[in-house]
Amino acid sequence: MGVRECRTRKVNPASADKDGQVEHLPVLLREAVDLLAPCSGGVYLDGTLGAGGHAEEILKRSAPDGVLVGLDQDAEAVDRCKARLAPYGARVMLRQSNFRDAAGVLSDLGYDAVDGALLDLGVSSFHLRTPERGFSFRLEGPLDMRMDRSRPQTAADLIHTLSRQELAKLLREYGEEPRAGAIAKAVEKAKARGPITTTIQLAEIISSVFPPYPPRRIHPATKTFQALRIAVNDELGALRDGIDDLLRLLKPGGRIAVITFHSLEDRIVKQTFVAAAKGCICPPRLPLCGCGRKPGITVLTKRSVVPADKELERNPAARSARLRAARKV
Ligand SMILES: C[S@@+](CC[C@H](N)C(=O)[O-])C[C@H]1O[C@@H](n2cnc3c(N)ncnc32)[C@H](O)[C@@H]1O
Repeated sequence: MGVRECRTRKVNPASADKDGQVEHLPVLLREAVDLLAPCSGGVYLDGTLGAGGHAEEILKRSAPDGVLVGLDQDAEAVDRCKARLAPYGARVMLRQSNFRDAAGVLSDLGYDAVDGALLDLGVSSFHLRTPERGFSFRLEGPLDMRMDRSRPQTAADLIHTLSRQELAKLLREYGEEPRAGAIAKAVEKAKARGPITTTIQLAEIISSVFPPYPPRRIHPATKTFQALRIAVNDELGALRDGIDDLLRLLKPGGRIAVITFHSLEDRIVKQTFVAAAKGCICPPRLPLCGCGRKPGITVLTKRSVVPADKELERNPAARSARLRAARKV
């Protein structure tokens, strides 16, 4: 199916949930959906529903008969989106699933390819402001951090399973935390006194490693919590598997847009796109191409797209977002 360009429409991303709190504000909403270019009659996949902001915009722009398959590994996100997207009726199909399993879900629904796929990675504001989920180092809660609560291992389990060396490696690799060694040592000492079970308990252990002055721009626990969350949810593994599958699932001319929030994720997206966009891989000394390889995609974003100052004023949580998009050849 060819992809037609649709006209850009005005969007109003802010919405309040039933508690009157501001819901997750979709990041790079206009930019991401413009790059997806949804059209009527198309089939679109949102692999990270969250609060459904991007999903709703895709539905609006693919009216009257575009279809959206929405996935989230968090059952609560799916339930909340069912209510928000109910007005779109049979055009919406929502499932609790990891996007790395998108091919199976789509096939169960009778689709073997899609016109567009979106991933908006990481956690939603709902996760961060719900203490029981254990994602926030500012709110007291169990040290959980599982997006899919059927996963067997919580952040507390992980901390108690890893040796000091393994924890330091994890904090260095997934959190790019310069004080990884010192934090791992402090955690080891604390574990010897008793189990670490809550978010604030861990945040205080981490803070004890940092001098109080000069004051820091970000909370000392930021990078450690990020690293644990990435590990608990196997976020990088899911992205590697998922993005390859989604590229396969795109129809010719179909588009993919991915929003990342840290350099490890962005690197995976960038490298996957560069590899898929590459044609012949024969050594330059060969006079003729022997590999026959053709580019699989065209990258639509020469550089990653970042939020404009206006969006950052409204939503500082968008500060590290980067968007990349590609079109299947
Ligand atoms: C940043 S939020 C998405 C926000 C959404 N675009 C919106 O407009 O509200 C990320 C969501 O993706 C989900 N998620 C993260 N990794 C996932 C994965 N591998 N598979 C499925 N869902 C995932 C999280 O549970 C979270 O709800």
